[in-house]
Amino acid sequence: MEFKEAMMHRRSRYELTSTSPLNPDQLKALLVHALNHTPSAYNAQGGRLLLALNEHHQAIWDALIALLKTRQSEERFAKSKAKIEQFKKAYGTVLFFNDLNVIKEYQKKYPKYAEQTELWSQQSHGMLQYVVWTSFADAKIGASLQHYNPLIDDAIKSLFAVPDSWKLTAQMPFGIAKGSPKEKHFKPIETRLKVFE
Ligand SMILES: Cc1cc2nc3c(=O)[nH]c(=O)nc-3n(C[C@H](O)[C@H](O)[C@H](O)COP(=O)(O)O)c2cc1C
Repeated sequence: MEFKEAMMHRRSRYELTSTSPLNPDQLKALLVHALNHTPSAYNAQGGRLLLALNEHHQAIWDALIALLKTRQSEERFAKSKAKIEQFKKAYGTVLFFNDLNVIKEYQKKYPKYAEQTELWSQQSHGMLQYVVWTSFADAKIGASLQHYNPLIDDAIKSLFAVPDSWKLTAQMPFGIAKGSPKEKHFKPIETRLKVFE
C-alpha cells in the first residue's frame, strides 16, 4: 500500500475477528520496525510494546471485565462487558508503555529541557501508536486504540511482570476487521490549516 492509502485505511475498527494475515513472527517484525523507525526526542527510544496473543491476549480483557464487574452498576456493566467481549474476540492486543526511567535519564542529561522532555516523550509515543496502527492498516489488520489505564495497570503488571518503570499508555486490540468503519466527518479545513504563499 502507498503511505497515503495506508493513512486512509487506518481507522478505528471495533468488530474484529480472531484471525490475522500476519503470523506471530511477522507481527513481531512489524513491531520491531515501528519501534526502530519512529522518531523520539534525543533518539531516546522510550516507547515499549508488548504483543499479547492467544491466552495472554484474552487474559487482558478478562482482567478488565473482572475489574469493571466490581465497580459498575449491573446495567452499565452489561454494556461494558459486551464492548470488551468484542476486544476479546480479536486476534491479539498490543500494549503500549512509556518507560519513565528513560524520561528521567534524559531530564538528568539535559536539565535545561527537563520540563519539555516529558512532553516530547509523549509526542513521540503518539507517533509510535500511529506508526503501529498505520502499519496494521497496511497489513490489512484492523485495530482500535483503547485507554483502560490506569484501571488495569496493576492487573497488567501482574499478568506480564513488566518493569515498574513501564507506564501503560494504551491498549490496541487487533485482527481482521468485519464490516466497514463508521463514516468519518471532517471539520472545515479553513479552521485547521493556514497557508501563506
Ligand atoms: C490519543 C487518542 C486517544 C483515543 N482514545 C480512544 C479510546 O480510549 N477509545 C476508543 O474507542 N477510541 C479512541 N481513540 C480513537 C478516536 O476516537 C478515533 O481515532 C477518532 O474518532 C477518528 O476515527 P478513526 O480512528 O476511525 O479515524 C483515540 C484516538 C487518539 C488519537
